Amino acid sequence: MLLTLPALTVLIRPITPEDKPLLSAGLRMLSPETAMRRFLSPKVSFSAAELRYLTEVDQVDHVALVAVDALHGGLVAVARSVRVSEDTAELAIVVGDPWQRMGLGRRMIELLAERANVDKFSGTMLATNRGAVKLLRGFGTHVDRDVIEGGVREIVVQLPSRAMAGAPMV
Ligand SMILES: CC(C)(COP(=O)(O)OP(=O)(O)OC[C@H]1O[C@@H](n2cnc3c(N)ncnc32)[C@H](O)[C@@H]1OP(=O)(O)O)[C@@H](O)C(=O)NCCC(=O)NCCS
Repeated sequence: MLLTLPALTVLIRPITPEDKPLLSAGLRMLSPETAMRRFLSPKVSFSAAELRYLTEVDQVDHVALVAVDALHGGLVAVARSVRVSEDTAELAIVVGDPWQRMGLGRRMIELLAERANVDKFSGTMLATNRGAVKLLRGFGTHVDRDVIEGGVREIVVQLPSRAMAGAPMV
């Protein structure tokens, strides 16, 4: 699907195994702060095994979407949900620094929730990460868990109804 942000139109689509170079280039473009918030540790490159894990996904229990610049093809955002139990998937998302706070993160987790076929998203983030806390808590219809331990915050929220599950991405 195409989404128009201020000054940018992005194409949001499922990730593919061919996206390995795109992911590596995207990581190099992130500020150290954004990379730290996403990976909870300093991250400057992916190993071959990490790239396989991140791009060779089944789109059933591991759903991953990329947002790319519709004009130039550069990576703008990545969002994924990985099932961790029957009803819960772990959410991980990053929006490139220039495009944060434009509504893209919210739109990407809406699309993930439609496809993940779970009732809850869990998220693990730095306790200081106000954007991620607001995004996840704001998306859930109910907060099941919200705990801070050792500087890390874990939040579990109930998702809006599964009525759209399996909707085609048009
Ligand atoms: C967290 C992140 C994914 C949010 O994506 P985004 O596209 O900037 O978020 P949105 O524009 O959709 O905003 C969603 C909500 O969060 C709020 N928000 C976003 N960034 C914020 C920030 N830095 N401080 C406070 N609130 C913030 C927005 O105001 C919005 O709130 P609203 O619904 O009340 O208007 C993005 O900032 C990011 O990639 N951060 C680095 C990686 C990361 O933290 N990942 C999450 C841990 S896995």
